[in-house]
Amino acid sequence: MQQKSASNAETTRPEPSRRFSVAPMMDWTDRHCRYFLRLLSQHALLYTEMVTTGALLHGDRQRYLGHDPSEHPLALQLGGSVPAELAACAQMAEEAGYDEVNLNVGCPSDRVQNNLIGACLMGHPALVADSVKAMLDAVAIPVTVKHRIGINGRDSYAELRDFVGTVAEAGCRSFTVHARIAILEGLSPKENREVPPLRYEVAAQLKRDFPDLEFVLNGGIKTLEECQMHLETFDGVMLGREAYHNPYLLARVDQQLFGVERPVPSRGEVMCQLRPYIERHLAEGGAMHHISRHILGLAQGFAGARRFRQVLSVDVHKTDDPLGVFDHAIELLGSH
Ligand SMILES: Cc1cc2nc3c(=O)[nH]c(=O)nc-3n(C[C@H](O)[C@H](O)[C@H](O)COP(=O)(O)O)c2cc1C
Repeated sequence: MQQKSASNAETTRPEPSRRFSVAPMMDWTDRHCRYFLRLLSQHALLYTEMVTTGALLHGDRQRYLGHDPSEHPLALQLGGSVPAELAACAQMAEEAGYDEVNLNVGCPSDRVQNNLIGACLMGHPALVADSVKAMLDAVAIPVTVKHRIGINGRDSYAELRDFVGTVAEAGCRSFTVHARIAILEGLSPKENREVPPLRYEVAAQLKRDFPDLEFVLNGGIKTLEECQMHLETFDGVMLGREAYHNPYLLARVDQQLFGVERPVPSRGEVMCQLRPYIERHLAEGGAMHHISRHILGLAQGFAGARRFRQVLSVDVHKTDDPLGVFDHAIELLGSH
């Protein structure tokens, strides 16, 4: 059995609230994106992109685990299915200060199936249970699972309930349910986020059958009003694409979903707060577009949105004064 890490005794981090979270998204929720999103909401739980155990154990650890202290509450999502490796990676996450480790049992990509990573693991509940147990034995931070409501060939409710029950017996208390079946062959991961249809009622049945477990609903949620509605049934909501494409949605999360009295920051204020971070990144040799590509959706919904996107996605590549271009984008926002 894994030894608990030495840091466990001193771990006093509170359990993060999962009432509202931003989904793990490969190539999107990198550290720059998370820094930006954190300026909009102090309380949203942020997830990293999925990191495979292989990448963490054999690759550039700092690159995968590095983050700014302001990003908390912050969860690392792992992809893998070898219990000892997952346990070792969970320890790394804990030592690096993450508030939670999440196991990916939802990604349908062929690339990951070959290595038994992602949604195909729904067909191996005992292996997921062993993985979760190994991680829980290794760390004091929470270990959670993000999964689908089924995979093709294993899509009955009885099988889903068996999956959740088996993994819960291993000690997992929190499940994030992407409420559509994953099709493991014939669809791209992108198509698999649109079809087959969402079935929130299946996720709701899980909450009824396991009232003591935490269930976070994911898939297709677009507004805070929808979040409020789902929070009557579920313990939390997780937003992916809408949070990325329309990030200003997060500006009201603290007030509306966490009941915190805090003035809603304007878009311009958020940009001004981001500026020193960009300056630091440029001074360290980084490029403006590493960060600006994540903020293109900030102006969504009002007249200057198109020009704003253009300035930050096109003009930014043609200038030797990226901060000047950024300041121009701030001006375009006016008082919005
Ligand atoms: C670009 C992109 C990358 C994604 N990468 C991951 C990932 O690394 N891990 C994961 O569990 N899900 C991943 N997903 C799925 C999302 O976490 C989420 O489950 C899905 O987009 C449904 O939520 P939404 O309708 O709110 O976007 C990704 C989704 C997108 C759009």
